[in-house]
Amino acid sequence: MDIVVGVSGGIAAYKTVQAVRLLVKAGHAVTVVPTEDALRFVGAPTWEAISRHPVTTSVHDDVARVRHVALGQGADLVIVAPATANTIARMAAGIADNLLGTTLLATEAPVVIAPAMHAEMWRHPATQANIATLRARGVVIVGPEDGELAGGDSGPGRMSEPESIVERALAVVAPQDLAGLRVAVSAGGTREPIDPVRFLGNRSSGRQGVAVAHEAADRGADVVLVAANVGADVLTAALHPRIRIRPVGTAAELGAAMKEEAEVSDVVVMAAAVADYRPATASDQKLTKEGGRLERIELVENEDVLAALAASRAAGSAPARQVLVGFAAETLTDPAARRVRARRKRERKGADLLAVNLADAEHGFERADNAVEIVGPDGTIVAEAVGAKQDVAAALWDAVATLRGPASSEGQ
Ligand code: CTP
Repeated sequence: MDIVVGVSGGIAAYKTVQAVRLLVKAGHAVTVVPTEDALRFVGAPTWEAISRHPVTTSVHDDVARVRHVALGQGADLVIVAPATANTIARMAAGIADNLLGTTLLATEAPVVIAPAMHAEMWRHPATQANIATLRARGVVIVGPEDGELAGGDSGPGRMSEPESIVERALAVVAPQDLAGLRVAVSAGGTREPIDPVRFLGNRSSGRQGVAVAHEAADRGADVVLVAANVGADVLTAALHPRIRIRPVGTAAELGAAMKEEAEVSDVVVMAAAVADYRPATASDQKLTKEGGRLERIELVENEDVLAALAASRAAGSAPARQVLVGFAAETLTDPAARRVRARRKRERKGADLLAVNLADAEHGFERADNAVEIVGPDGTIVAEAVGAKQDVAAALWDAVATLRGPASSEGQ
């Protein structure tokens, strides 16, 4: 494959050297297009040696071959890593006053970017709006990760590791193995109202469900994301031309939405943390200590949505060969005990696959990283994934695709 790797001016450029090395090693022809600024971090000789191709930043070199458009036209894939806030803004606006800019405008190939910047710059509404614009155009955004940044700060903004950038980028050009599938994914955590200002909730951010939805859409599926209280920052990651978002609040709302979607979905993934109980009554007035009604809250059990979806499938109100996937966050650290619990849970709920998530201090809720084992219909572990939630999502869809078998048997 002909791959263009654009590099903008950030310290993370040193990590892109490794990404280029991996791509070359995998047999791809890589042309590196650094910005002027990028060369202050890693010089042209390094890029040339590692990519085995000449490097230039100028639109005026090699004019006879109209290099400023030829590179983009000939590319099968364009990766920009690191993508600084400035480069992201220029991409969103379509500015083309350097070779990277013209290449990006001239290409019809998939574009994958790996942002890297300070957390404040990443969170800034201008950057977020630019990212939303790029996503809506189909640009794939990898990361940024949460972690230590240059200068000792920490927060979201660190460029993803070269291995995951390469893996994600190559996946984008991978066959659309989920094309034509209708998928419903629940994400986030439900909130069960106690009174107008209080609720029973949980710490699910929705990141895993959003990653699952996004991966499916990247691989060609049409996705409905039923989002329970997912923050706006996390939800931006779900912007995709093939993802429709349905916001919900309570377990009952989530259940109703998922039942409706499941009737027309080939794959249903329950990644949301659904409250098992809700207050028996939600007061329409704020409860007060004086009133003495805050000491004890009576709870009633919520319906198990996943089990209900399995029951309606068994009753015939789901498309043929529908696959049901559950998630389970477990705090048991002993792997054997965790597996026993997971097998039982999968059977009890009637799901085909159960992705078991170790939710300790290092993994799971509110964290970018995750460790997951996927239990299959016969109780064996059919897949394992450790790393970014995107990696977990990729493993999950591989397992779903294997379970459904070749697309040619569709409709049987
Ligand atoms: N789930 C659901 N409806 C509920 C509770 C959970 O659909 N009322 C789904 C979750 O979305 C998840 C799976 O069931 O896919 C497992 O969730 P988990 O909270 O681990 O299961 P529980 O039934 O709550 O089991 P326990 O609390 O006993 O661990």
